[in-house]
Amino acid sequence: MKKIVIGNWKMHPLTSKEAEKWLQNISKDTAKIKKTDIAICAPHIYLSNLKKISRRVSLGAQDAFWGEVGASTGEVSGEMLYGLGVKYVILGHSERRALGEDNSLINKKVKGALSAGLTPILCVGESERDESHRYFDIVKAQVRECLAGISRDSLSKVTIAYEPVWALSTTRDRRDATPNDSREMAVFIKKVLSDMSTPQIASGVRIIYGGSVNERDAEGFLREGGVDGALVGKASLDPKKFSQIVKICEALKN
Ligand code: PGA
Repeated sequence: MKKIVIGNWKMHPLTSKEAEKWLQNISKDTAKIKKTDIAICAPHIYLSNLKKISRRVSLGAQDAFWGEVGASTGEVSGEMLYGLGVKYVILGHSERRALGEDNSLINKKVKGALSAGLTPILCVGESERDESHRYFDIVKAQVRECLAGISRDSLSKVTIAYEPVWALSTTRDRRDATPNDSREMAVFIKKVLSDMSTPQIASGVRIIYGGSVNERDAEGFLREGGVDGALVGKASLDPKKFSQIVKICEALKN
């Protein structure tokens, strides 16, 4: 499967001009990349200007409302984003779950994004690891509930990002996750997907890793983490570092 490196800019940068400069630098630095898909998930208000200058770098949003155009004050719909030329949307990020989003709301958003033609990047991941391995059950419930009622055909259009919250760069007293942690969970998620559909469909779902991926540890995750890409937060705020991670991914054999 083609690998992907996705930047999650979160609520950065402060101005559209700066966002455009970042994207221009990334595009320049990755001009020779052929085998790796690249995407930047930026704040909604910058996407329209970024679309004017993005070529090979795809754009993503960081959330989308599930409903169609209508009376939903403050929301942005999947159709609106699709109409702008946006390809991806991050859904169920732990920072949004911390604001109150639960699996059933995320499920509506995944369905809404799919019917708008967007590729959902569904984030799952436990807050902490416990000796009795309850974290497997937590991730299993997230996958099953967030993807409930989605047809087998549509399932293969979803990308799943495993992001252990305890390893995110913004988590206090964070710990580093290892490629082994990533591989073990990627295998587990494939099994959950396979039980929900078929082994063939499960093997076609792209699973990526996120959690403090940087230019030093990206190779380990991409080579030994059992995943088809990375979701990069903090390191994506530096166009040079982000481009370096893309190049590391491109240099891998497969
Ligand atoms: P991080 O963020 O790389 O800064 O840990 C990843 C994410 O939250 O998507």
